[in-house]
Amino acid sequence: MPIFATKDNLPSQLIDQLRTARQVVVLTGAGMSAESGVPTFRDAQTGLWAQYEPEELATPEAFRRNPRLVWEWYAWRKQLVNQAQPNPGHYALLAFEQHLPKFTLITQNVDGMHQRVGNTNVIELHGNINRFKRFNDNVIVESWADNGEVPPRCPQTGQLLRPDVVWFGEALPSKALSYAFEQAAACDLLFSIGTSGMVHPAADLPAVAKITIEINPDKTMLTNSMTYVLQGASGEILPALVKATWPRTGLPE
Ligand code: OAD
Repeated sequence: MPIFATKDNLPSQLIDQLRTARQVVVLTGAGMSAESGVPTFRDAQTGLWAQYEPEELATPEAFRRNPRLVWEWYAWRKQLVNQAQPNPGHYALLAFEQHLPKFTLITQNVDGMHQRVGNTNVIELHGNINRFKRFNDNVIVESWADNGEVPPRCPQTGQLLRPDVVWFGEALPSKALSYAFEQAAACDLLFSIGTSGMVHPAADLPAVAKITIEINPDKTMLTNSMTYVLQGASGEILPALVKATWPRTGLPE
């Protein structure tokens, strides 16, 4: 049975474990960016796209059927993400990296927020919405002429471009995935933050770790198997955890 707590009664045993940890792994999901104003993946689609399910848009079949629609949906999400600012939870995870001997940040998010605040060892399991590749052979393309064609084409081969994100039914980057499982099995503590734990294989990572901590305002598929469950928003709980563990850490408000 997990130990349940909130930001106001963080377990002293957890704080000691974090302060003395040699190696910590964090797995983040869309909830990590919710306080930056980026809708989580299972929020109802807002505005122009309300009539679509993400599953109708984030697949190779959807792209083959209507490449313009899929490209424009990602362009909308990219603009949303790039307009958003990192929140205190992102900065708290930078403090984790600065204080811990070894810190691995595994993210399901494609928004690049962890890198924007300065985290370095970031493993992107589902790709990055700001990176593009050829649809036919997955070769990354850095730039192309903006001739108004949507989606744009590779300047070398003329092949259609797509976002470098993992779509439903596609395999995750195998090197990133095996490294993630290796780190999860080796670490002293694994935090699962802002994820519903509904999508595998990312959701299988906590199961291989010794001590696990979930940070989420709601219960998830993983809650009952956790060692600790810190109930609340990551943008509030993570700064409180950093202040309790490393009191002299300055965090941006
Ligand atoms: P979900 O939308 O499935 O879950 C978001 C989680 O964040 C939920 O459990 C919320 O309760 C929680 N949450 C909301 N606000 C929060 C906050 N302020 N602080 C902490 N947690 C909060 O998103 P993911 O679990 O990330 O895959 O979804 C996993 C994958 O499913 C995504 O990466 C995407 C999707 O299919 C691909 O794109 C391949």
